Parts: sequence; C-alpha cells; structure tokens
Amino acid sequence: MLKFFSVVFCFIVSFDVLADEPITPLVPIEGLSPDKVKLGQQLFNDNRLSKDNSISCASCHLLSKHGADNRTRSIGINGSQGIIKTPTVYNSAFNFVQFWDGRSRTLNQQVSGPIHNPIEMGSHWLEVIDKLSADPAVAVQFKTLYDDGLTAANIADAITTFERSLITLNSRFDRWLEGDEKALSANEKQGYQLFKAFGCISCHQGRNVGGNMYAYMGTMGDYFSDRGQPITVADYGRFNVTGVEDDKFLFKVPSLRLVALQRYFFHDASERRLVSAIEVMAKYQLGRNINEQDAELIAAFLRSLVGQHPLLEPQ
Ligand code: HEC
Ligand code: HEC
Repeated sequence: MLKFFSVVFCFIVSFDVLADEPITPLVPIEGLSPDKVKLGQQLFNDNRLSKDNSISCASCHLLSKHGADNRTRSIGINGSQGIIKTPTVYNSAFNFVQFWDGRSRTLNQQVSGPIHNPIEMGSHWLEVIDKLSADPAVAVQFKTLYDDGLTAANIADAITTFERSLITLNSRFDRWLEGDEKALSANEKQGYQLFKAFGCISCHQGRNVGGNMYAYMGTMGDYFSDRGQPITVADYGRFNVTGVEDDKFLFKVPSLRLVALQRYFFHDASERRLVSAIEVMAKYQLGRNINEQDAELIAAFLRSLVGQHPLLEPQ
C-alpha cells in the first residue's frame, strides 16, 4: 500500500515539475534546411555586408562568446560607437519582437537594420548584392538554393535560417525541468524558488526566460534619475518606435538564458556584476531589497540556464 502511494506521489510530483513551471525547456526549431543554415552562417561572417568590408554580423555578435560583444557599446564601421548594448543572437528566434525597443517584428525584418545603420555596417542592399554577385561561388550557392537567386530577401532568409539554428539546448536547468533531479544543486534550486518568490518570473518567463513582453525599466522606482547619467535617446526605449509618451523607458524584457555569460548588464551596460544587476532589478522592478546571499542564489540559478551549442564555447 505504502509502495502504491509513493508511486502515485512520485508521479504527481514529476508531472507537476513538467507541467506547472513558468519556464519551459528550449527546443530546436525543426525543418531548417541545412544548406541554408550553412549559407546563412557564411553570410553572418561575411565582411562584405558592411560598406568598407571591415565588419560582419559576427564582429558584434560573437558566437563563441554569448552571441554578443563584451563592450558597453558596439563598434561599427570607422570605429563609430553604438548607442546601446548589443544583445545576444542566440535564442533570439524565440523573442516575440527584435531589438530592445521591439522595432522589428521578425528576425527577417531585423536583418536590414544593421546593414543600413550608418554606425553599424553603413551599407545598402544594392551595394551588398553588387559585391556578392561579383563572387561566382556565392552566386552559385544562391542559384542552387533559391529560385530567384541572389536577392536581399534571400540573403535575409539565409541569415535568418542560420539564426533560427542558434538555440542553446540542454542547459542544466532544462534537464532539471525534464525530470533530472540531479541536474541542479540545492543552491540553484533555491535560487529558482527565490526567482519565483521575489516575482522576477512575472517578467522573465517562458522558454527564453524573457523575450515575450515589454516592461518599464523602473517599474517601482526612478532608475534613470538615480543612475546619475544624463538620459539618452536609447533610454526612451519603445517610445522611439511609437512616439507615445507612456512608452518612454519601456523595453523588451531580455532573455536571461545566457545572461550569466555577459560582462555588462542592461541596455545601458550600467552594471558589471550579475549580482548587482539582480539587486537593481529587485529594487527598481519589484520595490524590494534583496540581500547579497539571496542575490547570489539567484545568480547561481541564472548560471544553470546556460545551454549548449556547437558554436558556443563549452562552459
Ligand atoms: C556594429 C555592431 C553590430 C553589427 C555589425 C550587427 N549587430 Fe546586431 N545588434 C547590435 C546592437 C547594438 C543591437 C541592439 C540594437 C537595438 O536594440 O536598438 C543588435 C541587435 C540584433 C538583434 C536583435 C536581438 C534581440 O534580442 O533583440 C539581432 C537578431 C541581430 N542584431 C542580428 C544581427 C545580424 C543578422 C547582423 C548582420 C547582418 C548584425 N546583427 C550586425 C550590434 C550589431
Ligand atoms: C517588471 C518586469 C521585470 C521584473 C519583475 C524583473 N525584470 Fe529583469 N529586466 C526587465 C527589463 C525590462 C530589463 C531590461 C532593462 C534594461 O536593460 O534597462 C531587465 C533586465 C534584467 C537583467 C539584465 C539582462 C541583460 O541582458 O542585460 C537581469 C540579469 C535581470 N533582469 C534579472 C532579473 C531578476 C533576477 C529579477 C528579480 C529580482 C528581475 N529581473 C525582475 C524586467 C523585469
């Protein structure tokens, strides 16, 4: 009888773990053409996408690191400095919109952004197509894979297909979600409980632990006046897209999947330590003080979210 109950009990417990958690495991995107992924990867690394052939997507989105650079602001062509911290391209296929302010609805739409941005690649589709069609090998690749050959839409399609393959699978946290109790340490489990108990989960949730809603930076306090740095255009967030006053300081909630690998935190790169970033979040997003010990436990949980990808340095 006891045995019967414990079997039922175990079943309920493990069922609960899988069914009720507000974070779900990352899954690969099926059905991607391997040839398009390969072409996309090649284009992602191709300097000819920039005006002076000096940088590629990969110059700012370092795939062996966390899919972004380790700078406070990115550096584009001619050494021009960006206005906002570079986010990761890993798992971006699962974000509901692209960019901090959500100005691209899809990955596909996103691609022409950096190509045309004067402080990023400073180029133009026509220039890019001119340069690439002068390369017979590339032209042939496009002809083989796309009926209409080398076009802007097909370049964007190949790059996007590659980006959709950039999912970091098999994190220890996901293995735990899938029922492997030993995948997490006691501290990491406690960190996850705190992440939920403090309310971080109300914004950072779903399979990307973020990336599925907008939220104000400073929901419970005036982050920007306390920061002590003058407000910049980038700080206005979603307002820059909609022009609606209420959208000032509204941002896409970033995914925390690879946050533990970052060197700087927040759109303005204002924090250098993960634990300090967690303290800022508790204070300004939740109106709560968090002690260092609890912040450390949450940081331990965040480190368990880092998954694997063949292009990402093993952790
Ligand atoms: C000069 C550095 C730089 C280059 C080159 C660059 N990016 Fe970015 N990327 C950024 C920055 C900075 C942002 C954030 C901009 C913003 O949100 O306003 C970004 C955002 C993104 C995002 C959105 C991610 C998210 O979660 O919102 C994707 C996807 C992306 N870039 C892909 C690319 C691709 C593809 C290329 C090449 C065609 C490229 N990037 C070239 C710096 C760069
Ligand atoms: C009200 C929604 C909300 C809540 C609650 C919230 N966050 Fe955030 N989080 C955000 C937003 C929005 C950003 C981006 C802010 C920015 O860059 O200015 C962010 C950014 C972060 C970052 C930095 C990500 C990066 O890429 O630089 C970390 C780490 C983080 N949150 C952790 C937490 C933790 C831990 C908690 C709980 C203590 C929490 N957040 C609670 C909305 C929220």
